[in-house]
Amino acid sequence: MIGETSCILSPGDEIVIRLRLTCEAHDDALVGHLDRVALYACELATALQLDPADIAQLRIAAPLHDIGKVALPLELLNKPGRLTNSEMEIVKSHTTIGYRILGGSKWPVVQLAADIAHSHHENWDGSGYPRALAGEKIHRLARIVAIADVYDALRSPRTYKPAWTLEQAIEELKRQRGIKFDPLLLDTFLKILPNLPTAQPTDAKPNLPADPLQPISARISAQLLTKSADQ
Ligand SMILES: [Fe+2]
Repeated sequence: MIGETSCILSPGDEIVIRLRLTCEAHDDALVGHLDRVALYACELATALQLDPADIAQLRIAAPLHDIGKVALPLELLNKPGRLTNSEMEIVKSHTTIGYRILGGSKWPVVQLAADIAHSHHENWDGSGYPRALAGEKIHRLARIVAIADVYDALRSPRTYKPAWTLEQAIEELKRQRGIKFDPLLLDTFLKILPNLPTAQPTDAKPNLPADPLQPISARISAQLLTKSADQ
């Protein structure tokens, strides 16, 4: 059955899925987060009535927004407490590293993933990084992923903070309207937020069995089967 499913996916799509599993294998804080970000981003894109073909590519590309983190030490990514300025600069480099990993592809979905990885920390007002892009100069799908990414990060526990409540998260999103986030995209996101399937904090850490390769292969199978069911 897996063999049949693999034939449905293009090699490009499958490699992108496997790269996403690489991110999760590096940092288990990303397990669940990457999937939810993609889900929220696609729900927002659907509400905005974007082209279904673009949404299908977004579903595959969005989970790679943080792929550059595979080059960064876990102690830094999950450091409890405040980062120093130099540590912050290293963490910020995950955007340019992600672009170096994915950029220049002839596969449209990989190029989209590269653009999202590069631009998901740009801010609407030009105060973001790495290029200080502003407004519509930021790829629209990266602006969508930025909202989904921050929302899920706020709602999830990290080593340096507890999960925020839904009300706290909404308040923070609104505070960043027109600063960090595209105001019109944010307005639509706030409208669909009550209907999102998992508007709950996720406190559970994944239970990784002793063999770290086992869950990865299980996740690959699940991903391929999910993709097949979508088609
Ligand atoms: Fe990021």
